[in-house]
Amino acid sequence: MSQIATSAYLHGVDSDEQARLSLLNGLLNVGSLRELGLRGGERILDLGSGTGQLTRAMARAAGVRALGIERSVEQIAEAERRAALTGESSLVEFRRGDATQPPLREDEWGSFDVAHTRFLLEHLRDPAAAVRSMVRAVRPGGRIVLEDDDHALLRLEPEPPGFALLWQAYQRSYVWLGNDPLVGRRLVSLLVEAGAAPLRNTFVFFGSCAGEPHFPSYIANLSGVIAGARPVILQAGLMDAESFDGALAALHDWSCVEDAALWYAVAWAEGRRP
Ligand SMILES: C[S@@+](CC[C@H](N)C(=O)[O-])C[C@H]1O[C@@H](n2cnc3c(N)ncnc32)[C@H](O)[C@@H]1O
Repeated sequence: MSQIATSAYLHGVDSDEQARLSLLNGLLNVGSLRELGLRGGERILDLGSGTGQLTRAMARAAGVRALGIERSVEQIAEAERRAALTGESSLVEFRRGDATQPPLREDEWGSFDVAHTRFLLEHLRDPAAAVRSMVRAVRPGGRIVLEDDDHALLRLEPEPPGFALLWQAYQRSYVWLGNDPLVGRRLVSLLVEAGAAPLRNTFVFFGSCAGEPHFPSYIANLSGVIAGARPVILQAGLMDAESFDGALAALHDWSCVEDAALWYAVAWAEGRRP
C-alpha cells in the first residue's frame, strides 16, 4: 500500500483493484452524471481521478477538456491507457499531484466551472484541505461537487452471519489509518468550512438485489473492497484471520440466496463559490 503524509489509501492500485474501480464506475457513473447535470461547456477539475472513467465521462458531457489530479503513477498510467483506447486522450489531462495541494498553474486557480471529487475525501487525513483547494480552484459562482461514502448506511438483508463484525472492522480500518469512514455525512459542513455556499444534497443509490442483472457486480465490488482491507484489518488486530475469512465466505454464500438485498447510497453535496 502506498502512503504519503496526507493520505493512507486503503484500496491500493494493483490491477485487481483497478478492475474493481472500473466495475464500480460502470455501476455508478450514470447516477453521478445525472446528479451533476452538466449543461455543456464546463471546464472541470476532478480530484483523485483514479482510473479516469468518470473524468472522461464528465469531459464528454461538457465537451471540454477536463483535468484530473491523481497522486498515483499507476492510476495515471491506467487512466491514460484507457483514454487512448477510446480515442479520448485529447479530452482529458491527468496530472500527478496531491489533492490537498493540487499542482495548478497560476492562471488555472479560480478558472474552473466545476471542481468534483468522488471517493477521495474518505482517504484523506485532512479532507477539509482538499475541499478548500476545490473552492479556490473554481471561478466565483463555480460549483464544488463532493461525492463520498458514509459506510454506516450499508444494510444487507437478510444479514449474512458475521457480516456486522466484518463491516465494523472494515470501517475501523479507516479510523486506524487516520481517515473518516463516515465522511459522507460531513460533506455539507466541509463545503461551508471551506467558504462555499451549500446548494443541495442528495444520495445516489448504490444498491441492488437478487434478480437484478448487475447484482453480482455489486457483490464483487463489496467483497473486493473488504478483501483489499484484509492486511490492514489483521495488522491492526481488528479481527482475526479465521473470523474474517469465514465472514467473507458467508457474504459470497449470501449473494446466492433468493431474497438477498443490498441497500447503500453515495452521499452527494454541492456548493457554490461566492
Ligand atoms: C477510490 S479511488 C476513486 C477514483 C475516482 N474518483 C472514481 O470515483 O472512480 C480514489 C483515488 O484517489 C487517489 N488518491 C488518494 N489520496 C490522494 C491524494 N492525497 N491526492 C490525490 N489522489 C489521491 C487514489 O490513488 C485513488 O486513485
